[in-house]
Amino acid sequence: MNKLKEIEELCKIGIADVQLCFNIKEDLWDKYIEQELCKNESLMDLINFRQSVNFDWKVDTKLGGPATTLNACVLYCLIRYYDLFMICETGVAGGYSTVFLLEAVSRNGGIMRSLELSNDMNEVAKLVPEKWKDSPTWHLKTGVDSVEFLRNENDDYNRIFHLYCHDSLHTFKHMFSELTEFKKCKNDRFFVFFDDQNSENFWDRCLQMKLFEKKGYNVKYISGKESRLNGHMGGIIKYDKVL
Ligand SMILES: C[S@@+](CC[C@H](N)C(=O)[O-])C[C@H]1O[C@@H](n2cnc3c(N)ncnc32)[C@H](O)[C@@H]1O
Repeated sequence: MNKLKEIEELCKIGIADVQLCFNIKEDLWDKYIEQELCKNESLMDLINFRQSVNFDWKVDTKLGGPATTLNACVLYCLIRYYDLFMICETGVAGGYSTVFLLEAVSRNGGIMRSLELSNDMNEVAKLVPEKWKDSPTWHLKTGVDSVEFLRNENDDYNRIFHLYCHDSLHTFKHMFSELTEFKKCKNDRFFVFFDDQNSENFWDRCLQMKLFEKKGYNVKYISGKESRLNGHMGGIIKYDKVL
């Protein structure tokens, strides 16, 4: 059983559009999905479970619906291609996207911090294999509001992540507050990813009000809307310091 086959065309289109937007010449699907992800048995088992008819998020991941496999694959490629090794994730729930992020960042020798509001340890990260739970790669903070946590000026880590990955509360107010904190990043290059970027028309409102911009940085972005997937894929914003 390889459930990824069923959505292969969709994933290939999303990944190809990301390549086009960021001018990536390499075939990310072949290099990172075929050659790496498809050979990772535990990731394939997880995909097969997520895509199966038996999976019901209201039962299996009660804190919130999991990311799509499309978004998980796109993020995996992005992390591996750009060698991103410091990742911040908001909104863990059962941890579907968490597992892909951890697999990719660990291959890069990096670390991930995950911020989750719930303290229910029967539910938080229940899809995440035990090997990650006491691994130095993963720093899970539960019972925290992502925005409050990121606002802490004394935590230098908050400003040096290479990828900020939003999948917490999908209201305009909360997403905008996270974006404001993410944009305080001091790296020459960093990425921001928004799952459910069309909630409360977040993506279009940001474009209209030029909220993605950051002084001194070139900004490139793609969401499903700028791609052939028309909103189906999450939104990615790439920041490059003007040197
Ligand atoms: C859509 S689910 C995350 C799905 C997860 N990324 C996955 O792929 O399985 C949203 C999660 O965000 C958490 N959440 C909601 N508000 C939050 C906040 N203010 N700060 C941090 N996490 C929050 C919820 O408790 C829930 O677990």
